[in-house]
Amino acid sequence: MALRKSFLAFLSFGLCVFSGNQFQAVFDTPKQPRTSFHHPIHRVAVVGAGPAGLQAAAKLMQHNFTVRLFERAPHPGGNWLYSEETPVRESYPDEPAGQTAEIPVQFPVTRYYNEGAGGLTLDHRWTEHWRPRPVWYNLFTNSPKAELPDVPYGPDIPWVLSHHTIQRHVRSYASHHCLNTNDHCPATPSAPRVASYSTRVEKVEKDAETHTWVLTLRRLERLRESDRILEEWWTETFDAVVIATGPYTSAHVPEIEGIVDWSKAKDGEHYSMYHSQAYRHPERFAGKTVLIVGASVSASEIARDISPFAHRIIASVRPPSERKGMRQRSLSRFPNMTEFVPEIASFKPLKKHAVGIRDGKIHLINGSILQGIDEIILATGFRSSHLYPPNSTTRRPENISWTGHYTDPTLAYTIGRPWTMGRYQSYGLAKVWAGSARLPPHEQIDESERDTDPGSYWRQIWLGEALFRRYVTWLNDASLEYGGRFVEPPPLETVELLKYYSVVHFLDNTMDLGGTGFDAISMLSGQLKGNDPWNALVDEDTDW
Ligand SMILES: Cc1cc2nc3c(=O)[nH]c(=O)nc-3n(C[C@H](O)[C@H](O)[C@H](O)COP(=O)(O)OP(=O)(O)OC[C@H]3O[C@@H](n4cnc5c(N)ncnc54)[C@H](O)[C@@H]3O)c2cc1C
Ligand SMILES: NC(=O)c1ccc[n+]([C@@H]2O[C@H](COP(=O)([O-])OP(=O)(O)OC[C@H]3O[C@@H](n4cnc5c(N)ncnc54)[C@H](OP(=O)(O)O)[C@@H]3O)[C@@H](O)[C@H]2O)c1
Ligand SMILES: *[C@@H]1O[C@H](CO)[C@@H](O)[C@H](O)[C@H]1NC(C)=O
Ligand SMILES: *[C@@H]1O[C@H](CO)[C@@H](O)[C@H](O)[C@H]1NC(C)=O
Ligand SMILES: *[C@@H]1O[C@H](CO)[C@@H](O)[C@H](O)[C@H]1NC(C)=O
Ligand SMILES: *[C@@H]1O[C@H](CO)[C@@H](O)[C@H](O)[C@H]1NC(C)=O
Ligand SMILES: *[C@@H]1O[C@H](CO)[C@@H](O)[C@H](O)[C@H]1NC(C)=O
Repeated sequence: MALRKSFLAFLSFGLCVFSGNQFQAVFDTPKQPRTSFHHPIHRVAVVGAGPAGLQAAAKLMQHNFTVRLFERAPHPGGNWLYSEETPVRESYPDEPAGQTAEIPVQFPVTRYYNEGAGGLTLDHRWTEHWRPRPVWYNLFTNSPKAELPDVPYGPDIPWVLSHHTIQRHVRSYASHHCLNTNDHCPATPSAPRVASYSTRVEKVEKDAETHTWVLTLRRLERLRESDRILEEWWTETFDAVVIATGPYTSAHVPEIEGIVDWSKAKDGEHYSMYHSQAYRHPERFAGKTVLIVGASVSASEIARDISPFAHRIIASVRPPSERKGMRQRSLSRFPNMTEFVPEIASFKPLKKHAVGIRDGKIHLINGSILQGIDEIILATGFRSSHLYPPNSTTRRPENISWTGHYTDPTLAYTIGRPWTMGRYQSYGLAKVWAGSARLPPHEQIDESERDTDPGSYWRQIWLGEALFRRYVTWLNDASLEYGGRFVEPPPLETVELLKYYSVVHFLDNTMDLGGTGFDAISMLSGQLKGNDPWNALVDEDTDW
């Protein structure tokens, strides 16, 4: 039956074009009980205005939900909101990621802060609140064509894009859906705004009595004229919540003996050691000897960026605990001047903290000692934490189904690449909460399996594609049953582009493809191996 319905759903694409948006159900043979909620869903909160949250908010608005979009940053864009501001310095040693704000007992609360109040600068309060992104000026994508619906790029857009281009693109999408800073939609002056920027969601709680979600909210505003910060706390209540807070919450600092001592060292105004999240421009590395810790994308790409300026680049790379696609790609992208050294065993205590680290000694695990380093960039990755369940710090909270819904289906997380999955998932959320789709049986995403599999990158691509198909079938079945628009799978071109790009990125046989059932690599490598496919296809300065 399911098959027949999907087949019909497929056939009826054509029909829909002619008969408008609604297509009445022909069958009435429920497989699953209709998803029911304590009360109908009207008010929905979306947390995060990155590529995922913007799509969720836009789609829910189209479905006539009363939507509120909360974003801690002053503008939309998520990871792609570039700024010269840098995040508050990471903690040494690493401390658990999570919300640190002390929540007032009663609401609403309004406070003002002057420069230096509570021992904190206004800049510190401000950047702690919104957390500037770990993106640097010359960053380009490491995935092909990151694109949102409704605001297509021009036809000649290169596969690999500068983050500046993506920022404009994501903001265009926000504007197109009336979600950008200062947009007021609907135009009725009395209607509350949908988007609330500079607003951090501090807590998400379910009220057991009313079966609603209570969000604790905190907004900061920089009052330039009086040189103060205004802080407002309040709560709002919702029938459903979408958590689109992105994959990375804070910087990860490795646990290495002596790192806390070295983290205090400064050369003039600058710390000598810092996480890659604070990296912005290469010019100031002129003539310096730089040690980069890590072997993944931030490490290789920052090394490339500073290589025209730096005197020496040394990369400390530990043996991979597992084979990771991105790591292999990164190892081949370090600039040729890179000197690779083994993992760091310890930092020997420094005599002073005000004169940099040039005289400091770094012990490597093979017994050698490194000296004469000017700066250390920790390209050691990020940590995750989630608003709900409280204090969860796994990469993804447990108990999310492949549709993104939590065990309590009035809560959902955005999943998958927002560029590809976002359009399906946001439609799925709207349909389930509008009562025009039934949730499939809860089947948890097994994220751990993805992360440890040797072919993880490949698996993600296949899983990604399988997930599209699953979504398309599910959504179209639901439309057939309850009415609604039909969706098409992503255009073949997009899927092929992703695969082709990936193949090129794993040429050089750096990766074991065993078990993936994918043999195009041997075909392609035969043709491309003689050249340098990296430079032909993924170099930033090639317009392709
Ligand atoms: C340095 C770097 C480079 C990357 N390069 C690529 C690339 O080349 N290609 C690619 O596809 N992906 C890349 N990514 C991954 C990137 O995360 C995704 O492209 C994409 O931005 C994810 O979208 P999202 O909306 O899920 O999350 P995000 O873009 O991270 O957006 C989440 C939003 O939620 C907000 N938020 C978080 N917590 C709260 C809260 N408590 N209250 C209110 N708001 C909150 C954040 O401020 C943020 O704006 C990169 C990531 C990093 C860190
Ligand atoms: N578009 C771009 O150019 C771009 C740029 C930057 C980041 N990104 C994206 O952002 C995300 C994060 O990337 P990332 O490179 O910042 O982080 P990451 O992929 O998590 O890599 C962290 C690196 O640090 C290493 N590491 C951790 N602790 C270490 C220690 N004690 N000693 C030595 N090495 C240590 C890890 O080694 P192990 O492998 O052994 O764990 C890994 O190589 C990825 O999704 C990436 O694609 C994209
Ligand atoms: C939303 O409301 C508008 C105006 O009442 C209506 O035309 C439209 O069909 C509604 N959309 C959905 C998906 O119900
Ligand atoms: C190293 O890379 C630079 C810049 O790409 C290039 O000019 C130089 O010829 C390369 N050197 C070697 C030894 O490959
Ligand atoms: C340690 O590794 C570095 C870099 O590979 C190498 O130059 C050095 O000789 C090694 N030291 C020992 C004692 O093997
Ligand atoms: C979450 O952590 C905070 C701070 O450590 C603690 O006060 C709170 O009780 C924790 N909440 C839960 C549900 O464990
Ligand atoms: C996940 O769901 C299972 C079954 O409902 C439950 O036993 C478990 O406690 C849940 N885990 C979390 C973290 O909520």
